[in-house]
Amino acid sequence: RTIHLAALPGDGIGKEVMVEALELLSLIEKYDHTINVEIEAFNWNSEFYLKHNKMMPDNGLETLSAYDAILFGAIGDKRVPDYISIWEFIMPIRKQFKQYINFRPIKQLKGINSPLCNSRDIDFTIIRENAEGEYSNIGGSLFDKTNDELAVQNSVMTRKGIKDVTTFAFEYATDKGLSKVTSATKSNAIIHSMRLWDKIVQEVADEYKDIKLNSFYIDALAALFVQKPDTFEVIVASNLFGDILSDLGSALVGGLGISPSANINPTGEYPSMFEPVHGSAPDIVGKGMANPIAQFWSTALMLEHFGRADISKQILHAIESSIVAGKTTPDLGGTLTTKEVSNEVFTRMF
Ligand code: NAI
Ligand code: MG
Repeated sequence: RTIHLAALPGDGIGKEVMVEALELLSLIEKYDHTINVEIEAFNWNSEFYLKHNKMMPDNGLETLSAYDAILFGAIGDKRVPDYISIWEFIMPIRKQFKQYINFRPIKQLKGINSPLCNSRDIDFTIIRENAEGEYSNIGGSLFDKTNDELAVQNSVMTRKGIKDVTTFAFEYATDKGLSKVTSATKSNAIIHSMRLWDKIVQEVADEYKDIKLNSFYIDALAALFVQKPDTFEVIVASNLFGDILSDLGSALVGGLGISPSANINPTGEYPSMFEPVHGSAPDIVGKGMANPIAQFWSTALMLEHFGRADISKQILHAIESSIVAGKTTPDLGGTLTTKEVSNEVFTRMF
């Protein structure tokens, strides 16, 4: 089958790592005749904004909706406020395409020696609610600049939202033959929304007799991430808790240069979007220092999403083999450039 892919390189190192990911896909196609990926790239980014005063054309979302998936680089440029690039570009895509799952593998690759993951076998997945919860625009502020100044920020949790993300987590655990799901909560202190969270998570868990549900308060869970990161299998978390745990998890296993993510629309009604966790990294742009691995791994997640776990595994093996051989960019302690690391990965794959 043909995968119709929209590529959005974005800004800064987003463009540098996207070039390599597209090269990877074209090599995969060349050597594996069972897969066909048709790619169209769109240069909707901060440059586009400076010219047109918008991040994408008015029919941008409609254009993207015709694709099976979106491969995204990173967005952000100091000439455009970050809230614009995020709220007028990434957020509309996530919301319009109902990408209510943020999927983050936290896996220690062979050869990675972060002081935190040393000699432990870390391999778990964070399933973060990506559409509601703490990240809402409901609220307001009063008494500007007076001593009584205050702000209220409401968190919105729904039965459907919690049920959908929890079901995704339990289905994922079932598919992978795993035995437990860990829920991040704080229902001792956040007594309305988080008690609803606990209740619905438990209701879903009751439907899966073979999978154990563990529940931890978020503060204790953060400590366990550092002390016993090898004990987790699947974690289900609200938008805010999942966001924080994801970056903590990524730091445990090697950092931003390698961390991938997927924004998934589980019904398949809309395209899902695959992107590295990192941003446009203005401090290293143009220096050939960007690690392409996070973008490669995100591409692997995309192929896995379309049923090609076999190719995804090959990509990961090639990445690991390059790291083990010390063929890495400076963020992983090596001296190679983006292009050289990419070539190392390609050579090991084909
Ligand atoms: P960042 O992720 O761009 O950079 C943080 C640090 O990590 C920098 O020192 C950078 O050099 C390093 N780094 C990041 N990716 C790397 C890679 N692949 N290889 C080697 N080193 C890497 O985050 P920062 O500096 O907070 O944000 C920069 C811009 O990116 C801002 O405009 C921000 O809004 C945007 N951003 C965009 C995101 C997205 O497109 N999803 C996510 C995060 C930030
Ligand atoms: Mg984050």
